Amino acid sequence: MTRWKRQVMGIVGSPRKGGNTDILVDTVLQGAREAGAEVEKIMLADLKIAPCLACYRCRKSGRCIQRDDMARLLEKMKKSQVWVIGTPIYWWGPSAQTKAFMDRWFAKIWRKTDLRIFEGKRIILALPMGESNPKTARHVIGMFKDALAYVSAELYGSVLAAGAYEKGNVRSMPKVLRRARRLGRGAVKLD
Ligand SMILES: Cc1cc2nc3c(=O)[nH]c(=O)nc-3n(C[C@H](O)[C@H](O)[C@H](O)COP(=O)(O)O)c2cc1C
Repeated sequence: MTRWKRQVMGIVGSPRKGGNTDILVDTVLQGAREAGAEVEKIMLADLKIAPCLACYRCRKSGRCIQRDDMARLLEKMKKSQVWVIGTPIYWWGPSAQTKAFMDRWFAKIWRKTDLRIFEGKRIILALPMGESNPKTARHVIGMFKDALAYVSAELYGSVLAAGAYEKGNVRSMPKVLRRARRLGRGAVKLD
């Protein structure tokens, strides 16, 4: 008998490889793997994902007219039950890579069948920021909360790393890393 495995997709929205977002996403994925899930990670900066053109052609076709890496990424996301989305806080918001990626979800909101990409998915946010006040992430959390509710996905939890300015700072934050791992482990458990 084949055992059904949870698939977890890590999506890193920072261009800094080995940076705080990358480490946090890896740590959540590590927890998920320990709990028996199959994990995969992509760096948005490695992919070609153009910003939305607001042509609204997707409204009729359910497809974006831009031929880049987004369609393939959406296919992978479809097969994963848990998404770990990491973005550094840039100007109280998400990184440009993360925002472009999110805007491209727009093509999949028009048809019931396409909306299944999002429905019931569990999302974990991984958010490092230079400021020591974790409230710096409030707009990003709020944005995801509303956007995920709109597409019927579940914001399972967030891990915030405040005061993580330099590359790798988060490595010296054991409490944050513990939370990241715990979130990963918990998210893949079936209710
Ligand atoms: C363009 C830019 C804007 C930033 N804006 C903020 C900000 O508004 N608040 C903050 O706390 N940190 C800000 N930072 C700091 C980053 O959030 C911080 O360095 C974070 O650890 C970067 O994550 P990374 O290592 O994954 O790239 C900014 C960094 C950059 C490059």
